[in-house]
Order: sequence, then C-alpha cells, then structure tokens
Amino acid sequence: MLPYGRQSISEQDIEAVTAVLRGDWLTTGPAVTAFENAISELAGGHRAVSCTSGTAALHIAYAALGVGPGDEIVTTPMTFVATASCAAILGATVVFADVDEDTALIDPAAVEAVMTERTKVIAAVDYAGQAAEYDVLQPLADRVGARTLADAAHSVGGTADGRPVGDLADVTTMSFFPTKNLTTGEGGAVVCKDLAIAQRAHEFHFIGLVRDPSRFELADEGPWHQEVHEYGVNYRLTDLGAALGLSQLTRMAEFKRRRAEITARYNAAFAGVDGLRTPVQRDGVDPMWHLYPIRILGGRRREVFEGLRAAGIGVQVNYIPVYWHPVFARQGYKRGLCPNAEQFYAEELSLPLFPDLTDSDADRVIETLLRLVG
Ligand SMILES: Cc1ncc(COP(=O)(O)O)c(C=O)c1O
Repeated sequence: MLPYGRQSISEQDIEAVTAVLRGDWLTTGPAVTAFENAISELAGGHRAVSCTSGTAALHIAYAALGVGPGDEIVTTPMTFVATASCAAILGATVVFADVDEDTALIDPAAVEAVMTERTKVIAAVDYAGQAAEYDVLQPLADRVGARTLADAAHSVGGTADGRPVGDLADVTTMSFFPTKNLTTGEGGAVVCKDLAIAQRAHEFHFIGLVRDPSRFELADEGPWHQEVHEYGVNYRLTDLGAALGLSQLTRMAEFKRRRAEITARYNAAFAGVDGLRTPVQRDGVDPMWHLYPIRILGGRRREVFEGLRAAGIGVQVNYIPVYWHPVFARQGYKRGLCPNAEQFYAEELSLPLFPDLTDSDADRVIETLLRLVG
C-alpha cells in the first residue's frame, strides 16, 4: 500500500541518532539544546521549547498562556482534535468558528462573530501547510487582550508575507510525527514571542522545576536545590529525537521543494476536471504543503476513497469536524454549527504526499483517481 504520508530517513539521520546512543546524554543533553536553537532560527528567532509531540506542544502552549476555567478559546473545527481538547482539558470552554470555504482556514469574520470578553486565545490551524490569516486575527485578539496561537503542525517551514511560520502568532506549536514536515519520531515544539510565556512553557514541560537561584522562595538547601512553583509534567524530547530532528532540518529546503513539486503535478493533472476541486492557495503565503486535500464533488468521496484504497493507494480524510466527536457532542455542540467545515469534510480526501514519493507513484495516483471519477 502506498502510504499517504511517511518519513524520509537518510544515512546521515541514522548516523546522527547512533552518535547519541554512543554518547553520554540520551535526554536533557546538548542535542536538545541545539535542536531548540535550530527551531528558533527557523521560526523567526523566538525561543523554542521542544517536547514529546504536537499534542504535548498544544497542552504546554495553553498552560503557558494561563488558560483555565472561565476562559474561552476560539478555534477551528477543521483540525486534529488536540487543538481543541488540550484547551478543554485545562478547563476552558472551546468555541468553534467556521472556516473559509475555499482554504479551510479559520475565517476571521467567523472568529470576530463569536469572540467575547472571555476569549483568552484564538487558536488557528495552518491546515494542509498554508498559514492562516494571522495579520487579521492578531488585531482581533489584541482588542480583547487575547493571544493568538498558530497550530503549525502542518506548516513548519512555510512563510506568509515573507515571515516564517513561528513568527506569525504569539505562540506557535509544531508536530514532528513521522508524516509531518520533519520528524523526531514523536515530537513537537512550542515557539513563543514573549520570553515570560516561553519560560512558563519550559517549566511546564519540565515538571515545574525552578533552578534559577534568583527566583527561589525557599532558603537554598544546597547544590541540589530546586523548587516547584507551579504544577508541571514531563514532556521532554529525548536527545535521540532531537538529533534526528537536527539532521532532518538540514534537508528542509529539499523536503519543501519536493512537496511543492508533487503538489504542482497533482494540480496540473486535476485542474478543471469535472467532479474534482483542487486546493486553493491564499495570496501571500509560501506553504510547506503537508497534505494534498483534494475535494471530491457530487457525494462520491467515500466511493473514491474506497476505490483508491482498493488500488493500493493509501488516502486519508482530514478531518472529521472536531465537535462531532462524542466528547464534544455530549456537551451540546450540534452538527450544523460550522457549515463550511462540514461541507469541506464531506468532500475532502488527502492524496499521498511525502518527499520520497516518486513521479511514477504520483502518476499512478493521478491515473487511478481520474479513472475513478471519470
Ligand atoms: C493540526 C494538528 N494539530 C496537532 C497535532 C498533534 O500532533 P502529534 O500527533 O505530534 O501529537 C496534529 C497531528 O496529527 C495535527 O495535524
């Protein structure tokens, strides 16, 4: 089965990981520091905190932003459930705003319509790899003293108006799962423009340990002294993962070029075909295409999905609208809440897209899909 996404691992990646295995630090070592510095550099120079997954990154980000009971976060239903659930788990109320019908990115007008004085975070998702409209979302957030969060699980390596992902919102979260734009096995990162939020993110993912003597509230017990001021968890990335990520970063430009090439090949093949709608790229963005979300019109998505799978082509659907999940539905979120997202979901199919996909693989996907809709 041709997968819809998969990692690209080089001999250099393997050597980078085995070098860590031969060294002294499996975790909390120099590879983690170097990887965080490299992510910071990629993401506009803001402090990066690495962690164990994109889900952990979201949990850390909301915790660092002080999200809790009584707060509302506004987000999109066209995402992986963690974008919403990681705020809900901290006690916040999740408010869904519909997406733009072309791009499936959160629609700033829909955000404005549901915002209140209690809005603490506007959490957008860079669906499929193109950045959301942070230039419009940021002033909306500023108006009520809220913060913007970019769930950039899909878009690491992309830019908008010449600025890199990581520099577009107050806080940016990333995922380094194997199918993502670069991988650390499991892994993620939080990038924060505000250093105080970054420090809270660091401490939350590091069990809440405070090791800076200038901040101690207790009398210093000795060289072993550390103290905890806020609850935290252990979401630390290992040096094994960090070394893999560092090595992967050296090939980001190559990954981006190849993802763009395959996207262009699909676009050219499917443009103007009856029954299909190709992805829409918004002005000003240079996406790192993570997904190729084609739309299958005429109520035929399931039939086409099954036809592709039967032909050995691994397709996926991204995503079931978040509020359909029973954990949200039981709280009273109703179907029909975000009609554009539901329509998009009904038509969406993610075709195979990853750097090692060959032209002949892509052509097989194209021929099979055209036959199925023909
Ligand atoms: C938009 C989005 N947010 C968050 C996540 C969570 O990332 P992870 O799988 O690394 O926990 C994912 C990954 O599936 C995602 O696609």
